[in-house]
Amino acid sequence: MSTLVRDYKAGEVIFRQGEPGRCAYIIESGRVQVSVRKDGEDFPLTTLGEGEIFGEMAIIDRLPRSATATALEATRLCVISQDTLTERVQNADPVVRLLMMMMIRRTRNMNLAAGGGSDPRRGLVQEISVLAKEAVDQVRFESEVKLAFTQKEFRLNYQPIVRLDNGQTVGYEALIRWHSPSMGVVAPNKFMSIIEESSIMIPVGRWITEQAMNDLNELHKAYGPDLFMSINVSPRQLVDPNFLRHLEGARMKAGLQPGDIKLEITEQIFVQGATIVSLIEECRKLGYKISLDDFGTGYSSISYLKEMALDVLKIDQSFVRGVMSDDKSKNITQVVASLANVLGLDCVAEGIESAEVAAELAKMGCMYGQGYHFGKPQPLSHYLTQKIKAAA
Ligand code: CMP
Ligand code: MG
Repeated sequence: MSTLVRDYKAGEVIFRQGEPGRCAYIIESGRVQVSVRKDGEDFPLTTLGEGEIFGEMAIIDRLPRSATATALEATRLCVISQDTLTERVQNADPVVRLLMMMMIRRTRNMNLAAGGGSDPRRGLVQEISVLAKEAVDQVRFESEVKLAFTQKEFRLNYQPIVRLDNGQTVGYEALIRWHSPSMGVVAPNKFMSIIEESSIMIPVGRWITEQAMNDLNELHKAYGPDLFMSINVSPRQLVDPNFLRHLEGARMKAGLQPGDIKLEITEQIFVQGATIVSLIEECRKLGYKISLDDFGTGYSSISYLKEMALDVLKIDQSFVRGVMSDDKSKNITQVVASLANVLGLDCVAEGIESAEVAAELAKMGCMYGQGYHFGKPQPLSHYLTQKIKAAA
């Protein structure tokens, strides 16, 4: 049952109408006839050829086979198991899943009209209505997020990044917040994935870049020109053909040097392949610094370190949090800090929440840190009034 390829002779039945579905098939070679039976007679519905998929309906809606499939000639099929297909369908976007269910329901209706026998669709209605609710919720939230951007409900907050040996602030990371009139302050993990999946990532990313750069200019005026700004950049932004032009335009307008900016990328970016690597190299050649965020939480991170020139490694807070309490987290943090050091990269530990952890990380050779212990993300005005207070 687990073989991936199966051969059928001309005239051989692959499965029959009414049977439970166990797998779907892609035709590698040959032809397959799909037919429904009524009053002892077969009605052909369609003939399928190379590259077409069939037998998917019973897997997706878990109802009996809607039709009989027969090889019309010597036919080779690639078998997709129930688990494989189900897993993929369940991981799909709710709107796409709803679309699939509706298309299948319509096909089943068509087959019934052609003579497909008793109505097997009871129970499906309930599932579709659950799916529809999920899809509606998602679409509604998405449009709320898009509207929020046009209504200027997003704000940037800045979290200090400090030197662990003397506590001095060396730069900030720009972090987005959604100030929703109905929901209050919404954290980025609740809505950024929606933005990243949609084309508004480009205008939102540009707004973040411009705002963060202008605000860094203000911070330079208040605290001196050595401070940097870390800006998170998603894969979608990087592959935008106008990304570099916009980045450079915004930087010059804000009167900054490329070295004032660290572009924070995640390992996720490398899934996009070689073009991304060369884009990042281009940024680096212009003088921008590249920071690898959430290090250790993605996959094959070590090989990227070999392939690509970077400037900063950020140790994910999930490791830092456990530094005082569990040996595994502590050892991993130590190894990452050492790795950064031998590769000549700056190392920033995220999620530092106590002086104890800060001291431990400094001992491990980690030069920089970020976290509530040093400061939570704050709007620009917080830092500017702090300065005025200090001067008074
Ligand atoms: P399933 O119901 O699992 O088994 C029969 C398969 O035939 C079905 O999935 C579809 O892949 C295919 N099928 C059923 N009805 C039609 C149709 N009207 N047109 C094309 N293909 C169909
Ligand atoms: Mg980041």
